Amino acid sequence: MTLESLVLDRPASKAAAPAGRYPVLPRPDLTWTPEVERATAHLYEKVKTVIPPVEWPFHAPYVKAINDLKKVRNAVILAHNYQTPEIYNCVADVVGDSLQLARLAASSKADVIVQGGVHFMAETSKLLSPEKTVLIPDSNAGCSLAASITGADVRALRAAYPGVPVVAYVNTSAEVKAEVDICCTSSNALKVVESLGVDRVLFLPDRFLAQNVQAQTKVQIIAWTGACEVHERFTAEELLRVRADDPSIKIIAHPECPREVVEVSDFSGSTAAMIDYVKLNKPARVVLVTECSMADNVAAETQGVTEFVRPCNLCPHMKRITLPKILDSLLTMGEEVLIDPAIAERARASVQRMIDLG
Ligand code: 13P
Ligand code: SF4
Repeated sequence: MTLESLVLDRPASKAAAPAGRYPVLPRPDLTWTPEVERATAHLYEKVKTVIPPVEWPFHAPYVKAINDLKKVRNAVILAHNYQTPEIYNCVADVVGDSLQLARLAASSKADVIVQGGVHFMAETSKLLSPEKTVLIPDSNAGCSLAASITGADVRALRAAYPGVPVVAYVNTSAEVKAEVDICCTSSNALKVVESLGVDRVLFLPDRFLAQNVQAQTKVQIIAWTGACEVHERFTAEELLRVRADDPSIKIIAHPECPREVVEVSDFSGSTAAMIDYVKLNKPARVVLVTECSMADNVAAETQGVTEFVRPCNLCPHMKRITLPKILDSLLTMGEEVLIDPAIAERARASVQRMIDLG
C-alpha cells in the first residue's frame, strides 16, 4: 500500500433501528395549519432572510413535528455548521464545528443524539457517548476524506515509518481512529501536532490541511493524499478575481482548501472560527470559502450586517440530511450508529487524547 493509494466511497458502518427498545411512532399530520403557523412563527423570524415565505409552509410542519418528538424521545439534535438553515436554526439544539459537536455530545444529558452531519461525526458522538443511542438520518452521508483511508492503510504507513506518531483528522472512520495516536480537528490541528514533542508526524487523511499546518510549524509533516471534494475545488485565481472587483472584501477560507487559496485569504480557521470572525469583525462584504450553507446560517444570525458574496460549493453528503429524514429517524429510531467495541475502545482513546489537550 502506498501513500498515493486513494480508495473512495468505502461503505460506512451502519446498523438498522434498535430492535424492540423503542416503539415506532405513528406519522404525525404534516399539514400546514394556522396552529403550525403560530407554533413556528418565532422560528421563521430567525430564518426569514434566507428562507422565502412561500417555502416556509413546506418546512414548518416538519419543524413542529420534530421539536415535539424530541421531547418524547429525550433527544437532542447536534447540527454541523453546514446543515441547511431550517435544520441549523429551527430544530438543532446544538450547532458547531466538529470539535464543538464532539465535546457537546460527551456532555449532553439526553438519551438520544440525532446527528445533523455526516457519518464520521455520528461515530465520534457514539465514541464519546457509548451509553446513548446515536442516530444518523441518512447513513450514506459520507465524506471524501473519511473514505480515502482504511485501518489497513494506517498499519501500512506505520510499517513504512516506524516510530513516527500518527495524527488523524476527525474526518476519518472509527476503524482508522483506532489505529492512530491522536485525533485533531481543523481548529486544533497545529496544537495537536506540536503537543507530541517530535520532529516529524504522519498526518492523515487531508493533504491540504497538512500543508496548511506545515506552513505554521517546524515539525515535519508526512501527509496522506486525501482531499475534501468540496474545498479542493476552490482556486486562488477565482478569489483574486473577487478581490480585484472589491479590494475591501474579506476572504475567509477553511483550512481544507489548497494552500494557494489560504495564502490569498485574510483569515483561515475551522467553520466555527470563520463564523466568529464574521460576527466579531462585521465586514461589509465577505466571501466564505467553504460549503454554501455556512453563508446562509451566518446571514440568518447577523441579519443584514454583512453581505455574503459567492463562490461556495455544496457538500452532497451534508445535504443528504433533511427535515423529512430527521423526522423519520425520530419516528423509527433508525439508523442507529454502532461501533464494534474492540474498535471503539481504541478509537475513543485517540479522540479523548485530543479532548484532554483542552
Ligand atoms: P470543521 O471542524 O471546521 O467544522 O470542519 C468539518 C468539515 O467537515 C469541514 O469540511
Ligand atoms: Fe467531508 Fe468535505 Fe463534506 Fe466536510 S465538506 S463532510 S470534509 S466532503
